Amino acid sequence: MNILAIETSCDETSAAIVQDGRQVLASVIASQIEIHQKYGGVVPEVASRQHILYIAPVLQETIDQAGLSWDNIDAVAVTNGPGLAGALLVGVNAGKAIAFARQKPLVGINHLESHIYANWLIPPLLDDASAKSLEAPQFPLIALIVSGGHTEIVLMRGHGDYQLLGKTQDDAAGEAYDKVARVMGLGYPGGPLLEKAAVGGDPNRFPFARSWLKGTYDFSFSGLKTAVLRKAAEYQAPPPKPAPFSGNTPAPVRPNWVQQVPAGMGQRELPVADIAASFQQAVVEVLATKTVRAAEEFEAKQIIIAGGVAANKALRAAISERARPLDLTVTFPSPIFCTDNAAMVGAAAFFKLQADPNRMVDWSLDIRPNWELVH
Ligand code: KG4
Ligand code: ZN
Repeated sequence: MNILAIETSCDETSAAIVQDGRQVLASVIASQIEIHQKYGGVVPEVASRQHILYIAPVLQETIDQAGLSWDNIDAVAVTNGPGLAGALLVGVNAGKAIAFARQKPLVGINHLESHIYANWLIPPLLDDASAKSLEAPQFPLIALIVSGGHTEIVLMRGHGDYQLLGKTQDDAAGEAYDKVARVMGLGYPGGPLLEKAAVGGDPNRFPFARSWLKGTYDFSFSGLKTAVLRKAAEYQAPPPKPAPFSGNTPAPVRPNWVQQVPAGMGQRELPVADIAASFQQAVVEVLATKTVRAAEEFEAKQIIIAGGVAANKALRAAISERARPLDLTVTFPSPIFCTDNAAMVGAAAFFKLQADPNRMVDWSLDIRPNWELVH
């Protein structure tokens, strides 16, 4: 079964064709990073407008890349939440239009669920023999979802069966990376840039306090973020104030706390690599410890990591290292399928359709900007 999938929940316009939930026949991702970079974060209205410009060419390129015609598409899948309302609308309406024109089933997919299902995708460039022998994740499993908006530990006993074990009480892991990177002037999006900046840094130089929230699988990263901010302030004056808002320029996205840096604290050179490495170690240690503990407690066969931060090598290494003595398999998507993409939407939709093969098109499908995967 070939599923044409669409993802427009944030700042990537993406379409893909996925065969039988695992084989990616085509994947196109049009990134808007350069456009949002100058504002230091995603400007929702700008994102919606870019999706409108990109969606048709991205869809056509996806069909061309797969070497298929529209007749070869068996179903359409689209992310309908959570995410930016205007951005989601573009994808949902494109999906509805195609499903209506081709008279195919249309499946709405939760964005977090799709991040989880990125772990079912066969990595690109794998030879046929290795691809065929690559096993799908085994249940029960523990999924750690770490993205820009979410940080959750979820127990899955089967397809579509989610039990929330814990989640962040404040910032998401990716959000903490982005904010700390901004304080250190590393740019946007902060996660990959901070990871790069941490290379060669001493992760033990600044022993930032870990927020363990003992006895729970919950997380908290805002205290750590503030600790890094204070440390940076000891070295440097605050970043320049944003330019005054004028005319049609969208207001820069800057959280208030950035301006709370005590002014004139000193001008010593910021030890960027050491701060980045110390921050990263504090984040990764808590994420890895709690994820592996959950896998032990619930006797999981496997751990899967999902979301943009799953691309982080330090996180991959920390979880793999802690899982090794327990003989637990740990799976991460290919980096290209960790951050937002449509292929993962096609994978999630396949397993939904398998569970409900007579599914009809639900024309009332609507966006759900605040949709939680599990409560
Ligand atoms: O899943 P995603 O693409 O979008 C959301 O659903 O939020 O995740 C984006 C987040 C951003 O916060 C980004 O900084 C972070 O994932 N991220 C990383 C890395 N790559 C992306 N964080 C740490 N290390 C990375 N290599
Ligand atoms: Zn995402």
